[in-house]
Formats: sequence, structure tokens, C-alpha cells
Amino acid sequence: MPQLEPLITEQEIEQAVDRLANQINQDYRDKFPVLVAILKGSFIFLSDLVRRLKFPLHIEFVCLSSYQGTTTTGKVRMGLPPQMSLKGRDVLIVEDIVDTGITINYLIDYLRKKKPASIRLCALLDKPQRRQVPVKIDYLGFSVPDKFVVGYGLDWEERYRELSCIYVVKET
Ligand code: IMP
Ligand code: MG
Repeated sequence: MPQLEPLITEQEIEQAVDRLANQINQDYRDKFPVLVAILKGSFIFLSDLVRRLKFPLHIEFVCLSSYQGTTTTGKVRMGLPPQMSLKGRDVLIVEDIVDTGITINYLIDYLRKKKPASIRLCALLDKPQRRQVPVKIDYLGFSVPDKFVVGYGLDWEERYRELSCIYVVKET
């Protein structure tokens, strides 16, 4: 069984979500964006974030996966495509963690074809050391070391999503 080592506390997460919401509130004050959240990992982050936003918005979900255990297969699958029209819309992607960048690049390419007015990215976590393709993160919570992390929506083989803090997985 893996052991979990605390990395980011509930209070630190709360402060980061406040900070991101403030930035997003300023930038989208006069807009009516669609928040495109990537399932499953972003579900807690999204729900904490949207409750701090003070402008009209739509929420859309996409389901993307490329992981088996703690390693990426490098091939992204779209389980659930967006249902609403994104043409002319300001799209804000909400993601739990950017790792190699392959998932986000795949999604941005996909969304561009839907002709939105703009696409920006809000990610709670970034693992810059593992990047394989460049990604511009417009709103970032934390940079984390090259370790596998869980909690606050993030999983290890579908476990630990329910935890309120973020932990590093130590495989034993
Ligand atoms: P990328 O395509 O390598 O950037 O991987 C992005 C996706 O992999 C994220 O949306 C997560 O679902 C998953 N992922 C990457 N690193 C971690 C991690 O440390 N813990 C949990 N999930 C991760
Ligand atoms: Mg994810």
C-alpha cells in the first residue's frame, strides 16, 4: 500500500483558490465565459472556484484520460466531449494538474476547432519538470515537485480523490 505524505494543506489550498478567483473575477467581470472542466480530477477545484466567481458563467465538462496508475500512456482519450456550442465564447479551462502537458495540448487543439473567442487555462497544480510540450498556464495555484500527488480531486488508481489536502504518494 502507498504511504501519503502531506504536501499542501487545506488552508493553503483555500488561499490559492481565493487568489485565483480574484484574478479571474477581474479578467472576466464583463464577460460570460464557459468554464470547461476536465473530469474527473478537477471536480473539487471547480466547485470551490466557481462559488467565488461573481459573473455569469456556463459550466461544461469534458472527460479526458491518459493515465494508468502513475504513468501517462501519452495517448489522450476523450470520453465525454463538450455538449454546448463554444463558437464565439470565452473559454476558461479548469484543470487539476499540468504534468507532461499532453492532455492540455490535446484539449486546446480540440477546442480551437470549435472557434471560441478566447481560450485560457486555470490549473491548480503544475509539475514543470515533467513538461514534454509547452503549456501557458494563465492562472496557477502551485508548482509542485516531480512526485505523484493525490487528494482534493486527484487520484491514484481512482483512490484518494476525497481527501481535503494534497499529499505525495510514496510507493513502498
Ligand atoms: P499530462 O497530460 O501529462 O499533462 O497529464 C495531465 C493529467 O494527468 C492530469 O489531468 C491528471 O489527471 C493526471 N496527473 C498527472 N500528474 C498527476 C499526479 O501527480 N497525480 C494525479 N494525477 C496526475
Ligand atoms: Mg486531470
